[in-house]
Amino acid sequence: MEQVHVALGNRSYDVVIDAGWLDQLGPSLSDRKLARKNIAVFTSPVVGEHYYVPVQQTLSAAGVSTVGRHDIPDGEDSKSLDNFARAVQWLARFAPDPSVEPVVVALGGGVVGDLAGFAAASFRRGVPYVQVPTTLLAAVDSSVGGKTAVNLPEGKNLVGAFYQPRLVFVDLSTLRTLPEREIRCGMAEVIKYGAILDADLFAFLEDSVEDLMALDMEALLRVVPRCVELKAEVVKEDEHDRKGVRVCLNFGHTLGHAIEKAAAGRLNHGEAVSVGMAAAAHMSVRLGQCPYKVQERVEGLLTTAGLPTRIEKIDVDDILEFTKHDKKFVAGRNRYVLLSSIGQWSVREDVADEVVDEAVRYVLS
Ligand code: NAD
Ligand code: GLY
Repeated sequence: MEQVHVALGNRSYDVVIDAGWLDQLGPSLSDRKLARKNIAVFTSPVVGEHYYVPVQQTLSAAGVSTVGRHDIPDGEDSKSLDNFARAVQWLARFAPDPSVEPVVVALGGGVVGDLAGFAAASFRRGVPYVQVPTTLLAAVDSSVGGKTAVNLPEGKNLVGAFYQPRLVFVDLSTLRTLPEREIRCGMAEVIKYGAILDADLFAFLEDSVEDLMALDMEALLRVVPRCVELKAEVVKEDEHDRKGVRVCLNFGHTLGHAIEKAAAGRLNHGEAVSVGMAAAAHMSVRLGQCPYKVQERVEGLLTTAGLPTRIEKIDVDDILEFTKHDKKFVAGRNRYVLLSSIGQWSVREDVADEVVDEAVRYVLS
């Protein structure tokens, strides 16, 4: 078992990672005094179908007397205020006794994790929660760091809280039922960590990304803990995203989000971030931040992972307009995370419109 400690003072916790050990969830909660009387498992219909019964069994075996299940429907649109209200009302009925604090378990991908985390942050002004991520993206990114949120029609993640889990329990074997497109989507975030923070990880990915895509557990057990370690370092430095450090995780995301919206459903999030990273690498070279070789390696690795670096039939003006709605758009400017080399990032707020325009046209070619 691999273990990464997220050091945040009295909000510290462990991320424990292994394969084929879902039956150890109950004992892992017991060890941390989290196997309380009531455990509320939030999941989705698909994930629940695969994993709710084993989760219920391990929790019951660990002495939890009441295990309940609440499903959040699939899809980004489900991360809504309406579903948040349903979730906390369900919790109120599940745990009516104010003297007994329930523990929330988020069993699923980032949609379930973000909504269940926010429900745990809000219900009775905060009850403990545990993340059990079942997508690659959730394992390396969304389950760690305490960003919880739901979307509004006005924008993504506009209502939420920083609220750290008490434990993140990763069983990499759950990725075996994940559609291949979702694995690629998570791989975009894995590649992002290497590109911005760790040249050795990036080089390892260049050698082994095909093994990772085929879910070689040995390779995954090396890469996933390293990504979590990198994220834990960033979160430790800048838990609340106010010190200009956590922004590095946005590499490829500013243009990626705009491309995702302009592509209107043709690209999923990871695919759009991949195209966004290709554009950000191009921008880095154009601004003299790094040599062309860096851009070539980033695009090469994304392509080997089966991710797109170009998109056709999108209007450049639509993309540029959408970048103005990015949450990092401040005082008429976006902050772009760029590469200085593989494994080193920098941020620029003074990127001229023509440079952004050129980078967008580059990925539309
Ligand atoms: P997701 O939660 O939508 O899951 C993708 C799909 O995979 C869903 O259909 C789900 O039912 C299915 N699925 C999940 N696990 C499965 C499994 N093991 N087997 C079979 N099917 C499975 O997508 P995601 O990529 O995990 O998360 C995306 C969300 O994460 C977005 O809402 C994004 O905003 C959020 N996010 C949050 C943070 C953060 O720091 N909190 C960071 C990155 C992304
Ligand atoms: N995924 C962005 C963050 O955690 O800050």
